[in-house]
Amino acid sequence: MADRHKAFVTAPFRGPGMETLQSVAEVVYDPWIEQIPLRILNGEQLAERLRAEGADILIVESDSVKGPVFEVPLVAIGSCRGDPNNVDVAGATAAGIPVLRAPGRNADAVAELTMALMFAVNRWIVPADHDVRAEQVYAGGKIPYQRYRAWQLAGRTAGVVGLGAVGRAAAWRFAGLGMRVLSYDPYNPDATHHTPAELDRMLGECDVVSMHAVVTPETERLIGAAQFAAMKDGAIFLNTARAMLHDTDALVSALQSGHLGGAGLDHFEGEHIAADHPLCAMQNVVLTPHIGGATYDTEANHSKLIADDVARILRGDKPVNCVNPEVLS
Ligand SMILES: NC(=O)c1ccc[n+]([C@@H]2O[C@H](COP(=O)([O-])OP(=O)(O)OC[C@H]3O[C@@H](n4cnc5c(N)ncnc54)[C@H](O)[C@@H]3O)[C@@H](O)[C@H]2O)c1
Repeated sequence: MADRHKAFVTAPFRGPGMETLQSVAEVVYDPWIEQIPLRILNGEQLAERLRAEGADILIVESDSVKGPVFEVPLVAIGSCRGDPNNVDVAGATAAGIPVLRAPGRNADAVAELTMALMFAVNRWIVPADHDVRAEQVYAGGKIPYQRYRAWQLAGRTAGVVGLGAVGRAAAWRFAGLGMRVLSYDPYNPDATHHTPAELDRMLGECDVVSMHAVVTPETERLIGAAQFAAMKDGAIFLNTARAMLHDTDALVSALQSGHLGGAGLDHFEGEHIAADHPLCAMQNVVLTPHIGGATYDTEANHSKLIADDVARILRGDKPVNCVNPEVLS
């Protein structure tokens, strides 16, 4: 079929989304995540591959979509991310190419990691595991019950900062654990708190504070020394969103003083924390390397969101998650 569409896909793509895409286009599948070393294509390389394959649909996750890509006659660009920040959307719009995104693709994944970090911090899972492996169960002449007691989470209060896709997925999980759930989000009327003054008041009520806001000039360092001070003694601070949302030095001070009970973090500025950073020496801190979204389901979810929208565009319907719908009108 000479007029069949062809999709060049460098995002991991699986499940029903892949079937949908294959039903509307020939698929050239070359996922970046399977390359060792990892491969990220730039605009020139993408344009070259698109031309070599004769593809008119581009679906990416991390490749840099700009410049020469927009000289290729594409019917759609799919960015398998909530925020398609790897695509020059203005450039695509100028070229009349719709850009699709995949909101909420990893909401459940990040919310599950948030719960994992909360439990790990609260119940000392990492040092306790270490003791078992090191045959140090009676370290310091104390039984584990003496070293690793905790308050249960049921009946406590969780504060969700940023009630978007991940925040909502975290909120029902906190509620399901028997926790009272408060939330702060100036832009979501469903949140229980909406102004910065209300945020500070909310922090004073929470046993667990969990960050799920997007990074904006308004949310950068949203949680600083004053906000940590406003938290309850012994509170647990979780950030599976972005490190930019909190002041790391203030977090360290709040932990060192014993004011905070612990912290669980899945993100560091520059994706890195030095081995000699004070956080790395704290037993009540659990650190993971930005793996919140790392599930196969995330890939299946973004595949379905993007493929459904590509199919809509090809049959002349309005896509649901297009960031520049004006190019289609
Ligand atoms: N750890 C990971 O692997 C991982 C994966 C996905 C997303 N994330 C991060 O999680 C966060 C949430 O992602 P999402 O998909 O739910 O995004 P989203 O856009 O659905 O939700 C973000 C929420 O932040 C809110 N917000 C905006 N300004 C705010 C403010 N001043 N105060 C409080 N809230 C504010 C928005 O109203 C929105 O409800 C983002 O920071 C994202 O980068 C991390």
